[in-house]
Amino acid sequence: MAEIGTDLDRAAKLLRSGELVGIPTETVYGLAGNALDARAVASIFRVKERPSFDPLIMHLPSLERVADYVTEIPAAAVKLARAHWPGPLTMVFKRKPIVPDLVTSGLKTVAIRVPAHPLAQELLKKLDFPLAAPSANPFGYISPTRAKHVQKQLGAKISYVLDGGNCPVGLESTIVSFTDSAPLLLRKGGLTIEAIEGVLGHPVEFNTHSSSNPQAPGMLAKHYSPATKFYLADEMESSNQLTQELERLPSERKAYLLFGETTVAGCTDSRVYRFETSDEGIITAASSLFATLRELDEGNYDAIVASLAPERGLGRAINDRLRRAAAK
Ligand code: TXA
Ligand code: MG
Repeated sequence: MAEIGTDLDRAAKLLRSGELVGIPTETVYGLAGNALDARAVASIFRVKERPSFDPLIMHLPSLERVADYVTEIPAAAVKLARAHWPGPLTMVFKRKPIVPDLVTSGLKTVAIRVPAHPLAQELLKKLDFPLAAPSANPFGYISPTRAKHVQKQLGAKISYVLDGGNCPVGLESTIVSFTDSAPLLLRKGGLTIEAIEGVLGHPVEFNTHSSSNPQAPGMLAKHYSPATKFYLADEMESSNQLTQELERLPSERKAYLLFGETTVAGCTDSRVYRFETSDEGIITAASSLFATLRELDEGNYDAIVASLAPERGLGRAINDRLRRAAAK
């Protein structure tokens, strides 16, 4: 079983010898390995049971190191990096041949992030190679935001999880591609679209993902899914079938995750997790969303019902995750 601890030298040593380590970032915990070591990268896919067509993000300690791995950093990307790196932002660039094919699933582009978490920063500065790190969850399940989440799910397959406490942002990074003429948003995440557009000074297009869209191969409709049946309150309003399915379940077998004043017929207060919809409330909701979903998933319920957050700021990324969790 993986040990949990705060020994940076031990983590660095394991990584230098090609092993994988669970690492904290401000978004979610990552399953990290040497991005330049094809053997280490292969074991990331194996441990996560991740399909090889879903490329990985490469993590570096600073913008200065990015030029080693990409052919060009457009001016707009430099502007974004200066404003929001280190932070919950991933940018996609055209790659240099030094980046192994396995990291990018054969794409000619590479996703790069400079994480802000102090332990991730310290660790990356100790290493002379970038870290490939997907979220440290089995493929398709809820991302981990606590060291013990990683230990519980991947602990039998890795030896060490670096403990950085609770991930403060709580949602994966926002991904913006700079491989076309205009920047393209590939994944909503921990950095708001408002913040990105504020720096760039113009609206950014959102790429609508699908499993067949080569732009964002990992963005499958069904993702972030609890094992327990998961319903969106908004979908039930328009579906009698879903409403009836849910009504058949005894009320003590259902749990609710609700925003603001939302009410759902048949729900009693004892099993409700309620998030506030103020700007502050949404930030708190984002940071505890995945941990709450896990707790509900482990709570032995027959169904979890969630309402959506307001569609602004981090609410957009929260809703993206909730919709994917509910996708059939
Ligand atoms: O916050 C995060 O980004 C976390 C932490 C650990 O850094 N990492 C994370 O990685 O969420 P992962 O593997 O769960 O998600 C990476 C996403 C995938 O959806 C993948 O398709 C996309 O990044 N991606 C990676 N390389 C890409 C590329 N070259 N072009 C387009 N999308 C890419
Ligand atoms: Mg993931």
